[in-house]
Amino acid sequence: MTKLRGHAFVALVLLLLAASFRWSPMRLLHVSSRSLAPADATTGRELLTIHRGNHELQGKIVVFLDIDGVIAPYGLDPMDDDADDDASHFFYDDQDSNLAKLQSHNCWRDFTNETMDAFSKILSAFPHSELRVILSSYWRIHNVCRGAILQKFRDYGSLHGGPLRQFDYFDDRTGDEMESRQAEIAQWLLKFNPDNDVLAAWVVLDDSECLRGRENKQYRDMFVGRVVKPFEDVGLTDKDADKAIQILNEQLGAS
Ligand SMILES: *[C@@H]1O[C@H](CO)[C@@H](O)[C@H](O)[C@H]1NC(C)=O
Repeated sequence: MTKLRGHAFVALVLLLLAASFRWSPMRLLHVSSRSLAPADATTGRELLTIHRGNHELQGKIVVFLDIDGVIAPYGLDPMDDDADDDASHFFYDDQDSNLAKLQSHNCWRDFTNETMDAFSKILSAFPHSELRVILSSYWRIHNVCRGAILQKFRDYGSLHGGPLRQFDYFDDRTGDEMESRQAEIAQWLLKFNPDNDVLAAWVVLDDSECLRGRENKQYRDMFVGRVVKPFEDVGLTDKDADKAIQILNEQLGAS
């Protein structure tokens, strides 16, 4: 009898665990917590699923990260003024199915040691626990692309050390709607940072124009002094990293 009750108890606990996983408040608040479960592009291994609610962003230092033109320089393209599609066919005519998959999602361009050095420098300048990296690149859309980024970061980190060695997830990404980069980031900010005081500091690393032009008029004031715009053919440099660190430190009241 005791044994039976023991089993019933275990079953109940398991049921409750399953139910709480499926129906945790975080899951119900799916939209605001924006859970991400990036798949590892190379091995197909599922990485940690991270749920981050608004409260976990309070007082945090946020970096909006673009990939193409920032971490993956356009200058590496064999034919840089034609469509990406042509270039990627040219590049990957081996029958690697993973590359084919990346190509089909348009997230195939290579990263360089230099851009990852620079990104590492930014991350290293602040306590890990305070940093939140938000993926704002087109690469955010597909799981396989997010997985590819994490894989490249880890490959780099395992050779060079530093924070990319354990860069296992993105804290969030901007919304799936494709607008201007400025609007995509602004919408994320307005949601998490409505009074401009939830986040301690933020910076945008992006080769897209986020300040000039009519299409950037709407949120321009919000972005002034908060954008690092690398030269797209080179990507993020050491100087860009210093500028990003300075931008964040200024908001943090340091100098
Ligand atoms: C990047 O760094 C690694 C390790 O130092 C090196 O083996 C590799 O050749 C470098 N890649 C490029 C493209 O320079």
